[in-house]
Amino acid sequence: MKKILGILCALLLLAGCAEPVETEPVVSPADDKISIGISFDSFLIERWERDRDVFVSTAKEAGAEVNVQNANGDVATQIEQIEYLIDKNMDAIVIVGVDAERLKDVVAEARAKGIVVVAYDRMLNNANADLYVSFDNRRVGELMAEALVKKGGVGTVYMLSGPTEDNNVWGVNEGFQDICAQNGITVQDIFYTAGWRPENAYDFLAQNPSIPDEVDALMCGNDGIATQVVRFLAERRKAGHILVTGQDAELEACQRIVQGTQLTTIYKPVEKEARAAAKATIALIKGEKVNDLTGTENDGTYDVPAIVLTPIAVTRDNIDSVIIGSGFHTRDEVYLYAKGDGG
Ligand code: GAL
Repeated sequence: MKKILGILCALLLLAGCAEPVETEPVVSPADDKISIGISFDSFLIERWERDRDVFVSTAKEAGAEVNVQNANGDVATQIEQIEYLIDKNMDAIVIVGVDAERLKDVVAEARAKGIVVVAYDRMLNNANADLYVSFDNRRVGELMAEALVKKGGVGTVYMLSGPTEDNNVWGVNEGFQDICAQNGITVQDIFYTAGWRPENAYDFLAQNPSIPDEVDALMCGNDGIATQVVRFLAERRKAGHILVTGQDAELEACQRIVQGTQLTTIYKPVEKEARAAAKATIALIKGEKVNDLTGTENDGTYDVPAIVLTPIAVTRDNIDSVIIGSGFHTRDEVYLYAKGDGG
């Protein structure tokens, strides 16, 4: 968009019809391609490679070039990488924030240069991003708790959430705790898993081994944490005897649901999220209307235009229709360890 404006300004100047303005250098047609930088927190967790692949393929199909950066879970690295993308004069920078509170300055720097900034999956606090694309995180938490209520027999639960730096964690926890409160389920306490590193959740349980004996369920903020929690339970022959929740519909979590060692995972069709984000980013660069906005989300200061999608709870009852039916995982993958139960 900036480049097209630059050419127009240059032409108007030549025609003596416009006030002198600072213009971008007139670019050759080869440079006319839209350029998008996308900065990921990390690829440690299974879902993000799927987000990346779908975002990149959708953007490329629309004729854009995409520069993918991976911050490996470090916010200082992410800031450096975003600065790099700014220096490369990207038309847009899409960010999966490592730390919701620490990116507003670099976002302001990008926006001051006319670069479109999109908060992908996680809100960037007080940053006034041009767009926020995610799922309804409160609903994620509500769905986890509703699965426990529907299962029945849950009086007390311990929460092993994601990190406090991830805005989504607060929404998930609020939704989860609301439904628990409405149904007489006591939340014993909350552990926040730094950096979404699941080994931290395992180590916490190893240091507090009585927790599983004191509760009926363990709420896990994502399936990576659930993997380590079920590992801890299995080592004590308790896997399948305590209800476990998760998020992201990772393959291992779906296999556990079939095996009976995880009650539910919350499926978020990340392909839909990535496609919507890529198309909306390109529309913003071109100055076109973003079609599928669902409203605005407040970032602590600003109301950010938003595309918020709906998550789906997956249990043994609907895993075939939702997960296999959508092609998110194949039947053979999901039932790999199931004893003769082809679903
Ligand atoms: C959160 C996201 C979850 C999950 C988590 C990492 O921000 O909302 O879907 O991806 O990161 O597992």
